[in-house]
Formats: sequence, structure tokens, C-alpha cells
Amino acid sequence: MATVTYDKATRVYPGSETPAVDQLDIQIEDGEFLVLVGPSGCGKSTSLRMLAGLEDVNGGSIHIGDRDVTHLPPKDRDIAMVFQNYALYPHMTVAQNMGFALKIAGVNKTDIRTKVEEAAKILDLTEYLDRKPKALSGGQRQRVAMGRAIVREPQVFLMDEPLSNLDAKLRVQTRTQIAGLQRRLGVTTVYVTHDQVEAMTMGDRVAVLKDGLLQQIDSPRNMYDKPANLFVAGFIGSPAMNLVEVPITDGGVKFGNSVVPVERAALTEAQNKGDSKVVVGCRPEHFAVVREDGSSNALAKADENATAGLAVTVNVVEETGADAYVYGTAEFGGEVKDLVIRVDSRDVPEKGSKLNVEPKPGETHVFAAGSGERLSD
Ligand SMILES: Nc1ncnc2c1ncn2[C@@H]1O[C@H](COP(=O)(O)OP(=O)(O)O)[C@@H](O)[C@H]1O
Ligand SMILES: [Mg+2]
Repeated sequence: MATVTYDKATRVYPGSETPAVDQLDIQIEDGEFLVLVGPSGCGKSTSLRMLAGLEDVNGGSIHIGDRDVTHLPPKDRDIAMVFQNYALYPHMTVAQNMGFALKIAGVNKTDIRTKVEEAAKILDLTEYLDRKPKALSGGQRQRVAMGRAIVREPQVFLMDEPLSNLDAKLRVQTRTQIAGLQRRLGVTTVYVTHDQVEAMTMGDRVAVLKDGLLQQIDSPRNMYDKPANLFVAGFIGSPAMNLVEVPITDGGVKFGNSVVPVERAALTEAQNKGDSKVVVGCRPEHFAVVREDGSSNALAKADENATAGLAVTVNVVEETGADAYVYGTAEFGGEVKDLVIRVDSRDVPEKGSKLNVEPKPGETHVFAAGSGERLSD
């Protein structure tokens, strides 16, 4: 087992002007489960392949433990990779697939059999050891691919979207199994996915990439509570955080008929940059519905005669059973914006009705209108 360090690691593909991975700095702890997440093309696979030795590193370095592996061939890195398509050999049985790397490494037959049987037990594959991959379900094939990595007892597991070929239900089950397995084995793992829910549920820490650049690396909790910029704010969380550009006023920002108090320091910082506006973010579950009598929470009314809060027109109500989400529109400074608001699933408003809402105190995020950087604490 080992730490993994990306030190300003850069990959520029031949013929490309911009790096696919740009000065990536990540320090992964021994035994940690790190998830690389981001939209398609952001450089996740490239980052993983650089660590695997399948892609040249054009700048910076990569360490596994205290070994500089930047220019080592893949076979000397002591890693095992699980690919999206599993890359199983169709003519070999499950047992042969799982033991193949050990056979190549010259491990004797008895030892191979023992390790394969151990891994099969962990992965619930014992009764399938003599089958060929084509006689397995998608989930079983996925487990064989995992088994192939496990038997090698590597220092690091690398996984590139290993669940993307499974149906939704199996994906959810399998992600729990993989996370549990990783914790039991304690092997440092770098896991790539484009699915932010997968990232948030599986990772000890999550690293968000965009255009080859690391946006934030943090625990799932911090990533959710304190996104470092507008990109992360919009990417992490489903339904996504509501983000609206609003003018700065005395004591806060104007949100419909309410002045939402936000940290003075954040506003001062924005004004120092010469911005008269900021982008305020509020997650769907962080709105309070203002009661009919106009009473709500401690937010100040901008206009004493108006109902506090923001009037949202309800366009669609999506009920998932546990939750209900209002997809609506509201006017911000003459512009109509879409908003998503979580409401009580036992008390859903009617389509076409109006709902007055306001962000709960302390549950807003403030970002610089220009740079998109987080301003609030
Ligand atoms: N072999 C390659 N040659 C040239 N460009 C590539 C190659 N592989 C990937 N890229 C480019 O590098 C960027 C990052 O790709 P990739 O790491 O595969 O992204 P992700 O896995 O996040 O979807 C993309 O713009 C992609 O088009
Ligand atoms: Mg990829």
C-alpha cells in the first residue's frame, strides 16, 4: 500500500495546443479512496492513465509511495486497473481471467488457484469460476474485472468508470460493494467517474476536474457545503444548486422582495473587485416556504408592504415519493429565471400556483460575478 502524488503532472497530446491535464497537484493518502469526477473530456481518464503509465507525462511528476514512477513502464508500477469495458479474455474461464496476470508473472499454479479462490469468495464468484465471460451477467463480469485486480495485491487500484455498463439499480448496489471492498482491503484507490452522485457516495475525497484543471479537492461534505467556485457549485448536487446573479444592496443581496443577509466580507470582497453584483447560490432543499400570513424567518423585508420572499410560479412538480421538487420560474430584476425548490412531499403546491420562498439563513453561497470564485466563508 502506498500514497500517490501528482506533482504538477501535465499531459499534452501530440498535435494539441492545450494540455488535456494541466499541472495536476493531488496528494492521495495511503489507503484512501479518491474519486476523480468531471464532465466528459475534462481529463479524468488521461489523469488515471498517466498514473498507470499508459500515457506519457510531459511535465511534472508522479510518485507512488516514495518511488518516482513518472517514466516507469506500467508493469513496474505495482498498480492494477479496472477498465470500463472490463477487457476480459472471452476464450478464458473466470478463473483463468482472474489468474492471468499472476501466470504471466510466473506465480506457481497452486498459489494462483489459492488467490483466485480467495478473491472469488470475496466477490461471490465461486460458483462461476469455470464459466466463460459470455455466460455471465453484466454485474458478474464487472466482479471478474475487480477480481483480476484484487488477486494481484497491488499498491494502488485504478478504476475508470467501472460501473458505466451496468443498469441503474445494479450500479447503485455495486458502488456500495466496491466502496466496502476497498475499505476492507485498504488499498489506495483512484476511481474515475462522470457521475457526481457516484463520486459523492464512494469517495473519501473527491477531486473535480474541468478542462484539465483541478477545481477543488475535498471531502464530499465540504464539496457540497462549500463549493470553491460556480462550476463546482453547479456540478455537485442533484437537482443542481440554483444560481442567480443579483445586485448587492445595503446589508445583503436583493432576492425578490427580501434582502438576504450574506457575509459582509463576501460583499466587500466583491465590491473591491469593482463588482456591483454577485452570484448567489441556494440548493433546492435550502429554501423556506413563506407562510400565507407572510410570517417566515428572520429575513428582512425590502418592502414592508410586499410579501416577503420570492414569488415562484410553479410549472412542474416532480414527486419521487420521499421528496417533491417544484420546477418553477421567478423574476429577478426583470429577467425570468428557472428555479428548483424542494417542498414537503405531503404538501405539494399545484401546478400554476405561486409559492413564496426565501433562502434559509446561512444556507446561501456567494460567488464573484466575474471570476466565479467563492466569496462567502
Ligand atoms: N489519445 C488522444 N489523443 C489526443 N487527444 C486525446 C486523446 N485521448 C484523449 N484526448 C483528449 O484529451 C481530453 C481529455 O480526455 P479524457 O482524459 O479521455 O477525458 P475524460 O476521461 O474526462 O472524458 C479530451 O479533450 C480528449 O479529446
Ligand atoms: Mg474517460
